[in-house]
Amino acid sequence: MYSETQLARGKATHQANCISCHNQVAYKGAAFAQKWSGRSLFDFFQLISTTMPQNEPGVLAREEYADITAYVLWLNGFPAGSAELEPDDAALRRVRIDASGAATSSSAGKGLRQRR
Ligand code: HEC
Repeated sequence: MYSETQLARGKATHQANCISCHNQVAYKGAAFAQKWSGRSLFDFFQLISTTMPQNEPGVLAREEYADITAYVLWLNGFPAGSAELEPDDAALRRVRIDASGAATSSSAGKGLRQRR
């Protein structure tokens, strides 16, 4: 779903561009799960890439928003793999966020379901 190197990039990019307003806690826990569970990864990517950073929306490259998305997946306990998370709308739409922990059997990783 995302790679370790991408995670490191995402963490650094978040540190440089987002941490002034958000700490990591903003993307974890029950409230976050409730808001995002059942939605696609594209929804999350779209939100951050069009509205964040709030003082300068869309200033980062799509790849950088994908890196941050990977970082947020990591914060939520989705494991890293070998492939990078690509900033590809169609591919992102196929991944559903399941933060309930109910359906965890997927090759895409715990809590993420790839739509066929
Ligand atoms: C200048 C301050 C500021 C910066 C910088 C900033 N944000 Fe935000 N962000 C906000 C505010 C304020 C909100 C709440 C907006 C709302 O709820 O309408 C928000 C909301 C969000 C949300 C929605 C949270 C939720 O579940 O409702 C996400 C995700 C997010 N920001 C990610 C990011 C990312 C990623 C970056 C860096 C690329 C970033 N933000 C940079 C101020 C900022």
